[in-house]
Amino acid sequence: MITARLAAEDDFDGWRDHCRGLLRLGARAEDIVWQVGEHVDDLFANASVPPPGATAIGVPPDFATLARSVICHSDPQRFSLLYALLADLKAGRRRMEDAADPLLRHLHCMAKHVRRDIHKMRAFVRFRRVEEEDGEHYIAWFEPEHHIVRHNSAFFVRRFAGMRWSILTPQISVHWDRDRLHEGPPARKEDAPTEDAVEEQWRTYYGSIFNPARLKVKAMLKEMPRKYWHNMPETALVPELIQSARNREIAMIETELFPSAPDTLTSLRADAVRCRRCPLYGPATQIVFGEGPENARLMFVGEQPGDQEDLAGKPFVGPAGQLFDAALAKAEIDRSQAYVTNAVKHFKFKPMGKRRIHERPNVGEINHCRWWLKREIELVKPELIVALGATAIRSLTGKNLPVTANRGQMFESLEGVPVFLTVHPSFLLRLPDEATVKAEKRRFLADLQAVKARMKRWVSV
Ligand code: URA
Repeated sequence: MITARLAAEDDFDGWRDHCRGLLRLGARAEDIVWQVGEHVDDLFANASVPPPGATAIGVPPDFATLARSVICHSDPQRFSLLYALLADLKAGRRRMEDAADPLLRHLHCMAKHVRRDIHKMRAFVRFRRVEEEDGEHYIAWFEPEHHIVRHNSAFFVRRFAGMRWSILTPQISVHWDRDRLHEGPPARKEDAPTEDAVEEQWRTYYGSIFNPARLKVKAMLKEMPRKYWHNMPETALVPELIQSARNREIAMIETELFPSAPDTLTSLRADAVRCRRCPLYGPATQIVFGEGPENARLMFVGEQPGDQEDLAGKPFVGPAGQLFDAALAKAEIDRSQAYVTNAVKHFKFKPMGKRRIHERPNVGEINHCRWWLKREIELVKPELIVALGATAIRSLTGKNLPVTANRGQMFESLEGVPVFLTVHPSFLLRLPDEATVKAEKRRFLADLQAVKARMKRWVSV
């Protein structure tokens, strides 16, 4: 066994010099023990280190690039794996050109992990300001996965040349005094400050650049894994920002696309006729806007107009509408006193021969149409909204609430109006047998009676 001793974990030059000597000796990868620092771990290792060979070895340039990255990997086998590949290249095997070569693929994968770690460090190091006798000092704590700190120092020097800073890590510390870079021993997390006055500014900045319309939670977690969060002040905001993303997205669409909102239902309806927020206006005959008194205390929200509503331009006039009317009459709710509308104002369908088959609106369509519904709610100011089915409750609350598990319960719309959830009347049209239809009609009626009971508690004005 031959021991090849390197000065540091990322000592590429030392590794290269040893390789020159070892190749000259004809050493095989399995005969070499690579040691970092002073201690010797291998009992069988022969401590005589081959003298570094001075003569350069010709290697393909992409090998040199690959090796420089792989050397920074934390896998202790990296020196040996690279040596094995190098020895083969020296022997004339053209392994760098074989994309299926398992060793080459493994090394490329290691290099990729190193590059990713380098990128993470650049993105997630957060300096905290400390006032010291000789001025401001910015200190950051970071836990890299690989031996990338030295490699990355030049980046931080360029980026923060005018600041006095230190990056502390469990591997080494690096300190920049605006003139020279110094290296120090490994640090502990407790050595780094946890909070400073700049923290709040970070959070404000992050909160303001956060674009809810571009939120992709999975991609975000992939890009900013949770293990880095404890070190980054802005991550305290992330759960809240994700939760409120939809409301903020809606608000963004509203203010950017429609800066001034109509202030009567008549002008709102007139504007809606020209709506092009989503492609549903194209195939539909016309918009089907809400209907009812401007001061209605009760509002019903359905899903979207059906075939007949699309032709008539009025909500709930087809088969579901007739069922709805009958149930309202039984519950003694006067439809003419209520405002009846839909979450989505255009009929979405798939043509099938002469028929137009209803298609459920997707979240994007619901969100785009939410602007109209919100304005209807703001102008009518109902005291109670009845959500008919899943699309309505999604639009009203921004949440996907399963209807069967939540029917008969109260929620709150994004505007703060109480919302009672029940099934959509068309659900009653799709039931398999007469007995189930009867039972479900009774349940729907019971829900509407619960609504009526609430209305009776309203103080007349
Ligand atoms: N279904 C709805 O949700 N709304 C209508 O207007 C008609 C059927």
